Amino acid sequence: MASFIVLLGPPGAGKGTQAQIISKTLNLAHISSGDIFRENLKNETELGKKANEFMSRGELVPDDLTIAMIQDRLSRPDCVDGALLDGFPRTPAQAEALSKMLAEWGVGIDCVPYISVAPEILIERLSGRWTCPTCGYVYHEQFNPPVVVGYCDKDGSKLYQREDDKSETVTRRIDVYLTQTSPLIEYYRGRNLLAEIDGTLSIEEVTKKLLAEIKLKIG
Ligand code: AP5
Repeated sequence: MASFIVLLGPPGAGKGTQAQIISKTLNLAHISSGDIFRENLKNETELGKKANEFMSRGELVPDDLTIAMIQDRLSRPDCVDGALLDGFPRTPAQAEALSKMLAEWGVGIDCVPYISVAPEILIERLSGRWTCPTCGYVYHEQFNPPVVVGYCDKDGSKLYQREDDKSETVTRRIDVYLTQTSPLIEYYRGRNLLAEIDGTLSIEEVTKKLLAEIKLKIG
């Protein structure tokens, strides 16, 4: 039976960090809407250019573009056994569209772990984040540093800081999350799918709690 897991949480909560670990542990495709947009931007596609108009301001990319992109991604063969969704859905319209597309495929969402972290911690996390352009691994200069400062442990690539991690854009992203995405917490709680995890614990502790909650829901 296919398993679909939605990781919910504010920018910088640790969704990407945890999704990289958990997708490997559970052998699920890791679908990150932000990564797909950034890949499109790097490849200078029309979607990438359009998405960047919104991403650079810390706004959400319009629902129609985002939903079509995710529908296309979830239709690929590596998602036949399920997927771990990171960063999607982010609005009630996206949540409805996801339920509808999964229902059409005869499946549904199994679990929505919500990683909760207070805004002041999010700012500290995003301002110290460094990402590998080759493998996508995410570091933090203080909380999860690479062995050699500025270079990826896994493949030696030079790490970079995301454009949208500038302080004014981070503040906007957190506001957008609070107004447009946080209503999904109650939306999924009402459907008995939500599992709240304290995202201020260490990366290892959060992983343990996430895996325990997911196991409870999907066995
Ligand atoms: P996206 O790429 O999805 O960004 P985000 O949701 O803002 O989340 P982040 O990637 O910033 O944070 P994260 O929770 O993954 O944290 P991470 O693990 O890196 O979206 C970017 C943009 O794309 C959006 O603003 C929007 O414009 C657009 N977009 C994407 N999806 C969309 C959608 N569905 N609809 C419309 N628009 C969309 O961790 C952060 C840092 O903290 C790292 O340095 C990490 O090492 C560290 N860290 C992680 N966990 C811990 C821990 N437990 N303790 C200490 N440090 C930790």
